[in-house]
Amino acid sequence: MALNKLYLGTNLKMYKTNSETLSYLRELVSLTADLERERLQLFVIPSFPALADASRETDRASLLLGAQNMHWAESGQYTGEVSPRMLQEIGMDIIELGHSERRHVFDESDEFIRLKTHSAVEHGFITLLCVGETAEEKAAGQADEVLRRQLVSAFTDLPEGSASKLWVAYEPVWAIGVNGQPAPADYVAERHAAIRSVLRELFGTAGKEIPILYGGSVNLENAPGYIVLPNIDGLFVGRTAWEAPRFRTLMDLVIPLWQEKK
Ligand code: PGA
Repeated sequence: MALNKLYLGTNLKMYKTNSETLSYLRELVSLTADLERERLQLFVIPSFPALADASRETDRASLLLGAQNMHWAESGQYTGEVSPRMLQEIGMDIIELGHSERRHVFDESDEFIRLKTHSAVEHGFITLLCVGETAEEKAAGQADEVLRRQLVSAFTDLPEGSASKLWVAYEPVWAIGVNGQPAPADYVAERHAAIRSVLRELFGTAGKEIPILYGGSVNLENAPGYIVLPNIDGLFVGRTAWEAPRFRTLMDLVIPLWQEKK
């Protein structure tokens, strides 16, 4: 069964400057003005320098805004880091944590991601936790085990009622970015089922309501095949969403299919 909302969002990674982000957001808001938001949640996750202006300019009834990372402490001797207090003050809605580039390029451990997840939840943010196995882990048949480890590590011992503020993105590391191979839909369906079962173990019936998004080389050709799968509540898109008209085309492809899935 589908959740009440379809989640469609993008991580802008380290591509758009402040002014580029603002024009992108303006265009996206205007190009999607006709879409009924009752059952659609759009979101954009820009780079840090763009967040304050983006937050001032963007009507959240249109889309939510998030940060690509966050330190867990409120303040401290952490040069180069950004704290929950800073992101609260500028009105961020979402904190994205554990993206594969953070885990694999910047060596973020499960323990760092656990601390950040707990802090994000405690500071009232929606927490978008990215999980995914590497090509080696996939080849060794360890995908579900890796997903379980990442989910259990980040989500164990969260305060009561936290599930309603959690989103999960399944992003196989080998499927992400310019060198990524799009994941076959049946493979994605199996991993999403595995994620759902861990969420149910951790949160009981509330685990059924946590949106699970798919990400990794989502494009106009493969998006329809993903959105019809059970346990896929949305798409977390990179390159295909970075021009607003193409993102809108993607929406037009998947929204009707998702509505039929209900
Ligand atoms: P991509 O990025 O769609 O460009 O592969 C996805 C992601 O990293 O979230």
